[in-house]
Amino acid sequence: MSAPRRRPVTVLGLGVMGRALASALLAAGHPTTVWNRTPGRSAALAGTGANVAGSPAEAVAAGELVVVCLLDDEVTRRVLDEAAPALAGRTVVDLTNGTPEQARRLAEWVTARGARHVDGGIMAVPAMIGGPGALVLYSGGQDAFLDWRDTLAAFGEARWLGTDPGRAAVYDLALLAAMYGLFGGFLHATAMIRAAGVPAGEFAPMVTGWLTAMLGELPAMAAAVDSGTHDGDGSSLRMQAAGFGNLLAACRDLGVDAGLMRPVRDLLDEAVARGHGEEGLSVLVDLLHTGATGSPGTARSSG
Ligand SMILES: NC(=O)c1ccc[n+]([C@@H]2O[C@H](COP(=O)([O-])OP(=O)(O)OC[C@H]3O[C@@H](n4cnc5c(N)ncnc54)[C@H](OP(=O)(O)O)[C@@H]3O)[C@@H](O)[C@H]2O)c1
Repeated sequence: MSAPRRRPVTVLGLGVMGRALASALLAAGHPTTVWNRTPGRSAALAGTGANVAGSPAEAVAAGELVVVCLLDDEVTRRVLDEAAPALAGRTVVDLTNGTPEQARRLAEWVTARGARHVDGGIMAVPAMIGGPGALVLYSGGQDAFLDWRDTLAAFGEARWLGTDPGRAAVYDLALLAAMYGLFGGFLHATAMIRAAGVPAGEFAPMVTGWLTAMLGELPAMAAAVDSGTHDGDGSSLRMQAAGFGNLLAACRDLGVDAGLMRPVRDLLDEAVARGHGEEGLSVLVDLLHTGATGSPGTARSSG
């Protein structure tokens, strides 16, 4: 029996991530057309069977599914604009990192040109694409997602988050915030430990064990956020705010910049000043969530 015919697909953008996505589509047996601003990046893919298009419009015309993986939303808009006459009847899956509002605006723009739109957020590094740990979040056009779900599974687990085109982006960026918080904590801790004369490699197993233990706290903290009952569970903010001063003082003594830690200290102090001293860390979510325009009277600023 012959293998089922795979539908033709296109990838716009052959950075490290776009190349990994195109390779996964080729490996899944899709006739795959690729386009990139800098032509040299397509050589290896061409060697494994990709068709190389000379323009975004030519690339879009060749694929029923158009996967976009470019630097940012501005570049995406510019490249899709060049391909606009070829978009009708296509499904555009935008895996470029962006904000929820950018995803919603692109969805309007794409659908106004007769194409279907799905936004996606890749929770993986390029080497993970196509492997068991890769997760890609999707939202927007549900029919389009269902139509292409099996193809998108070539990248990793394809998780559907609903019809709001901005939904995948807000999950993506929130997960990145969690990741940067974790990495920021690790980097700061490592700077302290190195300043104390300990090699980072010696410290790494200890910090990994500690963070793994602390991850176990997250479900209870999330439940506290949802219920609004922040009982602190033996670790009051008052106690933590008092101890945090020691962390900053030690950094001063060690010659380590405490820039990553000071905002946490400020937040703890503010919570205590507002009367939350006997509550737990979960109450800080209420202080951070100031509404779309920010609330007056807080010491923090938004980006
Ligand atoms: N790499 C990761 O770990 C990772 C993980 C998750 C999500 N992502 C997301 O995936 C997307 C691509 O990331 P990447 O790692 O592949 O980045 P990258 O290697 O820097 O590639 C950027 C891509 O954008 C293109 N580009 C940049 N400026 C352009 C312009 N003015 N006009 C046309 N094309 C332009 C580049 O083309 P040239 O080759 O011509 O420069 C290249 O194809 C980003 O949105 C990123 O946030 C990446």
